Amino acid sequence: MNKVTPGMISPALRVPASIVKPVYANTGIPTRGRSTLFLTNDRIEALRDTCRIAKEVLDIAAAAVKEGVTGTEIDFIAHEACIERGAYPSCLNYNGFPKSICVSVNEVICHGIPDSRAFENGDIVNIDVTVFKNGYHGDCSKMVLVGDVDERSRKLVEVAEESLYIGINAIKVGGRIKDIGKAIDSFVQKNGFSVVQAYCGHGIGETFHADPQVPHNFTPEIKYKIKSGMVFTIEPMINMGDWRHKLWEDDWTAVTIDGLPSAQFEHTILVKRDGVEVLTG
Ligand code: MF3
Ligand code: CO
Ligand code: CO
Repeated sequence: MNKVTPGMISPALRVPASIVKPVYANTGIPTRGRSTLFLTNDRIEALRDTCRIAKEVLDIAAAAVKEGVTGTEIDFIAHEACIERGAYPSCLNYNGFPKSICVSVNEVICHGIPDSRAFENGDIVNIDVTVFKNGYHGDCSKMVLVGDVDERSRKLVEVAEESLYIGINAIKVGGRIKDIGKAIDSFVQKNGFSVVQAYCGHGIGETFHADPQVPHNFTPEIKYKIKSGMVFTIEPMINMGDWRHKLWEDDWTAVTIDGLPSAQFEHTILVKRDGVEVLTG
């Protein structure tokens, strides 16, 4: 597998004054992730629209990933696609994050900063897009395979995607958040891969990262109950080898401790009395 080394990071892109921005857009400091979002019916349509845009931008950005293209170029495409749709790219200046989306290649688990490195034949690339519009954030990510990817990495990507749906299917009103991680963890272990523990799914809505935390591994001690109206993400990060991570010097880029690849898919989910709605589906 190709090794990833940091490239050059280009300056942050501008967002026109006409786009409504989240609180941290200027300061870099998000408001405290307060309680879970419970939506009234009239606001659900607004959140649906936000999540639809996130998914659209993700598809546009992911379709542009090709051998020789750089993360900087994908970031630019996603940034413009957000603005065309009246949305703010939520990652931009979130806790000081310098670009508009995350691009995480091969052994990068998550929070890769788009840079000048060109994608190579055999890369597996995660594109993670979050947008802010209508007062809400919507968050989703998926993998792109570049050229000829080795069989074990293709299997990793497949298991990561399936694990997301196994997590979604574990959601039951009256059940518990830990049921999600339990289902994902056992499926992933059966397939000989491991689940990252340090990064979780999260409540989302008015704030980018809110309660509840949604672990993708089994956490029997967490009692949090799943209720109708809750909105949160599921975004399992699946490693080929060791589940542990380390950070690059940029303090953002999380890579696997053993340098083996990692894969991730993410959706924003609305819990309803009669089931779930995959808002970014
Ligand atoms: N989109 C990521 C998530 O799924 C968060 C990225 S935060 C950033 O939660 F600051 F790194 F952009
Ligand atoms: Co997320
Ligand atoms: Co995300």
